[in-house]
Parts: sequence; C-alpha cells; structure tokens
Amino acid sequence: MSPDKITMFVGKGGVGKTTCAAATALHYASNGSRTLALTTDATPSLRHIFEISGDLREASVNSSLDVSELGEAEVRQMWDARFGHEVYEVFNSFVAVNYDEFLEFMTSVLPGLGEEFMVDYIREMRLKGAYETIVWDTAPLGQTLALLGTPALLEKHLRLAPRIYSRLKSGRQSRETVLDILRRWEKLSALNMDFLRREVKFVLVTIPEALAVAQLEGIFGEFDRYGLKVQQIVVNNVIKETDSSFLKSRALQQEQYLKIIHGKYSNLMIIELPLFPYEIKGAARLQEVAQILFK
Ligand SMILES: Nc1ncnc2c1ncn2[C@@H]1O[C@H](COP(=O)(O)OP(=O)(O)OP(=O)(O)O)[C@@H](O)[C@H]1O
Ligand SMILES: [Mg+2]
Repeated sequence: MSPDKITMFVGKGGVGKTTCAAATALHYASNGSRTLALTTDATPSLRHIFEISGDLREASVNSSLDVSELGEAEVRQMWDARFGHEVYEVFNSFVAVNYDEFLEFMTSVLPGLGEEFMVDYIREMRLKGAYETIVWDTAPLGQTLALLGTPALLEKHLRLAPRIYSRLKSGRQSRETVLDILRRWEKLSALNMDFLRREVKFVLVTIPEALAVAQLEGIFGEFDRYGLKVQQIVVNNVIKETDSSFLKSRALQQEQYLKIIHGKYSNLMIIELPLFPYEIKGAARLQEVAQILFK
C-alpha cells in the first residue's frame, strides 16, 4: 500500500505527536518510500527521538528517511525571502514601522506564522517531488489554521481605506496597489487551504484525560470551520496492564474518557496506543509504536 502523501500530526502539548510522527515516518521509510520527517518545533525533538547526534538541522536516519528541523531562524529567513517584503509594504503603507521590527513581529510575536508558512513550503516540496511522503510533526495546535484566513480578513478591514488603492512607491512590487498584493496573498492562502484539504491526512493525537478530551471538540470545530477533516485519532498513553492498585485506579479513570472518545467519534478510525513502561526513543521502540499504528 502506498503511504499517504502528507501526514500531519496535531494535538495539544505533550500528548505524543512527535512520537507518532517519528514512528510513522520510520514505518513508511522501512517500506521503501522516500520519506521526510519535518518539524518546526523550537526544541530538536525529532533528532533526539531518532538519536541523531550533532546539531545539523537536516540529517538522514537511513537511505530512505531524512529529518529536517526548521528552527525559528530558518523559518524567519525563508518567510522573509518569500513573503517578507511585500507583506511589509502592505503594513508600511498604513503604519510606519521599520523592516527589522516588522520581521521580528511577524515571525516571532505572531504565533503559528511558522506553521502557516510551512504549509506553503510543504506544498512546494511536494510539487518538487523529492519525497514520496512527508510526515509533519506540528507544534501544539494553536492559531495555525486561523492564520490562513488573514489575507481575506485584512482585505475586508482595509477595503475602506483609500490608500489600499494607491500604488506602492518602493520595492519590487512598486507597480502594484496594496489591494493587488492582498489579493495575490489571498489567492496563495486559498491554494494552501486547498492543499491542506486535498492532500494532507490529519491525525489527531490525544490522551484519555479530562482536559485533553474537553479540548477535542474545540479542535474538531476549528477543523470544520476551515473545511478540513481529521481522519484518524490516536489515543495515547492508554494503560493496558493493571498489575498494581495504582495502575488499576488510573486505568479506571481512563475508561470513562475512552468511552467518550469512542462514543463521539465512532465515525473515525481510532487507535489506542498503550502507555509503555519506558520512554520511546530509537528505532527499535519506534518500530514497536509503528506496529500498533499500522496493524
Ligand atoms: N505511549 C507512550 N508510552 C510511554 N511514553 C510515551 C508514550 N508516548 C509518548 N511518550 C513519551 O512522552 C513524552 C512526550 O511525547 P512527545 O514528545 O511525542 O509529545 P508531543 O506531543 O510531541 O509533545 P510537544 O507538544 O511538546 O511537542 C516523550 O518523552 C515520549 O517518549
Ligand atoms: Mg513534539
């Protein structure tokens, strides 16, 4: 069976996204697909989990599997090269701000911008076709999706401002009006949304605990708003062996949350991943996880 072209793992902090992403990437690669595991997480967890030494941002686990970790600086640099100046020109025609401050603001203060940019980056990687499958380990789900709506929102709010129709004086896009730039930007966002809808398999990782389960509805609501579909749920850290009163008590508690998840989302594929008696690091343990995810 050929792998999904792009798999994206979403979910709240610490639930096991990176673990599932790494196991999935390893699984696809062991089946012979050219695979890229990609993350924009600020902490180098993918390299850590694959036990890659050194501090290179890009490394190979084996001949089929590459790992790429884009830090804030890389994302900022790429965003700057791709979008920075024209977005700056739009902003600068309304508010006087110097470029470095603007870049700092856009790429570090605005949460989720890295992810928004990554959608575009992955779409282009996909077009280039160097990899058969890309596994994307996301940062804890935040405003990622909301940001894709930014250009449309900007146009709506700026439409009444006369300067939106004036041509920009400086820069590469000097013959365009602000409105032209916004429209182009909007088109790109639409393209990226479409790409997310059509080519990305979303896997939601969660755990059987009150807060995580309570947050599920919000996550599904956000996906719905953007016409995106979660295709699979992984419930992680499920206690399967209860050989102490301690574990029995935890398992009993988990039971009610598992019931809720299975009840509410019975239309989706739900995989329970057991809580292992050790942390998951290195190929052997990741294979163990993959066996459960792909059984
Ligand atoms: N089923 C499991 N059994 C035992 N340990 C697990 C299991 N799943 C994950 N872990 C451990 O839990 C920790 C957190 O997992 P992971 O890093 O995959 O979460 P995350 O969702 O990526 O976190 P973050 O949101 O911080 O990126 C890791 O140390 C991992 O080894
Ligand atoms: Mg992670």
